[in-house]
Amino acid sequence: MLVHAINNAANNATYQFPSGFTSGFAADVRAGLTRKQKELPSKYLYDDVGSALFEVISHLPEYGLTRADERLLQRHASEIVARLDAPVAVAELGSGSGKKTRWILEALSRWQRTFYYPVEISRSALVMCERELSDIDSISIVGFEREYLDGLVEVAAHRQRHQHLFVLFLGSTIGNFDRPAAVKFLAELRRILEPGDSLLLGTDLEKSSAQLLSAYDDPVGVTAAFNLNLLARINRELDADFDLSQFGHIARINREARSVEMHLQSKRRQTVHIPASDLRVDFLEGETIWTESSHKYSAEEVFQMASTAGFRCDAQWIDDQWPFAENLLTAV
Ligand code: AVJ
Repeated sequence: MLVHAINNAANNATYQFPSGFTSGFAADVRAGLTRKQKELPSKYLYDDVGSALFEVISHLPEYGLTRADERLLQRHASEIVARLDAPVAVAELGSGSGKKTRWILEALSRWQRTFYYPVEISRSALVMCERELSDIDSISIVGFEREYLDGLVEVAAHRQRHQHLFVLFLGSTIGNFDRPAAVKFLAELRRILEPGDSLLLGTDLEKSSAQLLSAYDDPVGVTAAFNLNLLARINRELDADFDLSQFGHIARINREARSVEMHLQSKRRQTVHIPASDLRVDFLEGETIWTESSHKYSAEEVFQMASTAGFRCDAQWIDDQWPFAENLLTAV
């Protein structure tokens, strides 16, 4: 076992804006909150507090997604691994806690020494995942604190000649992109890979509105806290003055997009100041900030999206308790 984290935080791209602020977060907040439909990129939900709250969400009875993902990986890990063109190095986009990855890594380690490269924007999640998985026999873990595709480019540069890459993109994180952007992302990912490399893609499947609404607006209020934490994060990091008691969490179904959206709704007319973004924002009563979309798929359309992006779908496993699919795709 050999564990070390490559910490690239200092190398992360920073943007230079005319108004002089250089942080990506401050600039993205400014861009999002000056649109007609105010919005904030969902990746910013995952600071240390947000990552911990998402971990709690994954234990809620109403939110079955993560457990379905875990069940499928636990049940089918040997079969998944047997279908790969060995030897492989494993890269994971958004490792989270690393809990569900264990099954795949253990199955692989029975056959080969396994290199595991988690790519994760949350440093605390990366550290947790390294700690969680470092006890597996014959594993070497090298973490990358990077955006997904930047991290994957680096992983690909580390690959040895004879090795195939096996990329894990679990938990239906793909669902945070709208459909065209998801295909574009898969195509960009495909361009980093070589033919014969594979991708295990987790996708949440369509289910009733009632089920979706209780999953994304749970009665305990954990999802509400997860969503509101984004405003708290803007207060903490950008010195803003959001009054969290004056915003409420809402989940709504978008039928055309086939997604469930999270918004933060202003309870009254109010003005918020965000000094680090050089911004003053006015809110009407009832106005919302759109913070996330989770798209839901049919099992068949995943094949279609994958083939448009340059993959062949080799196998698909669907959970019997919560409609969710694990798709094994091969770069062609
Ligand atoms: C981690 C992106 C898969 O979209 O279901 C959970 C995040 N948002 N509850 C999802 C989330 C609200 C989650 N993903």
